Amino acid sequence: MTLRVAMVEAAVTTELRRAVLRPHHAVGTLMFGDDLPDAVHLAALDGDVVVGACVLVPHPYPHRNEPAAWQLRGMATDPARRSQGVGAQVLGGAVDAVTDRGGRLLWCMARQVAVAFYERNGFVVDTAEYVEPYTGLPHHDMYRRVSAG
Ligand SMILES: CC(C)(COP(=O)(O)OP(=O)(O)OC[C@H]1O[C@@H](n2cnc3c(N)ncnc32)[C@H](O)[C@@H]1OP(=O)(O)O)[C@@H](O)C(=O)NCCC(=O)NCCS
Repeated sequence: MTLRVAMVEAAVTTELRRAVLRPHHAVGTLMFGDDLPDAVHLAALDGDVVVGACVLVPHPYPHRNEPAAWQLRGMATDPARRSQGVGAQVLGGAVDAVTDRGGRLLWCMARQVAVAFYERNGFVVDTAEYVEPYTGLPHHDMYRRVSAG
């Protein structure tokens, strides 16, 4: 599998993010970041096929005083392509994209089931477990530094 991670228009990854993260939403429903002009959308592409995605937005991190903070959202890999490093590659692209934009911290609201995945990619757990109201799923806030200092 030859994968590349590229910055894309939001619409390129909307369906993957919907299907993976909001399967109860109708096809065509806008996802987080699709209407935000400062959102950066990344796709993992196998040829023309979108197999992974994430969204990056400049957004303060509630637990650290770091003005150059970016939030990671919409992290999704096609179920048929999981556990092959797609997610890790997308996160690598996210770190590069944030670093290129002068960001210094990348954070996310991590589903409990994905905590080990984020830890393996340099994130640390920063909060006790809480239930995220929209999904009703247990989450932790996690973060990682993305550049020296
Ligand atoms: C989390 C996710 C993006 C990882 O993508 P991936 O391409 O499989 O990532 P990698 O191959 O780099 O890493 C695989 C690791 O992800 C984790 N993982 C596996 N299945 C998972 C699942 N259903 N949900 C969350 N994490 C999972 C495991 O730690 C796995 O390690 P393993 O292969 O040794 O078991 C992908 O599992 C996914 O889309 N999950 C559903 C949506 C989700 O939970 N997104 C994160 C919201 S905070």
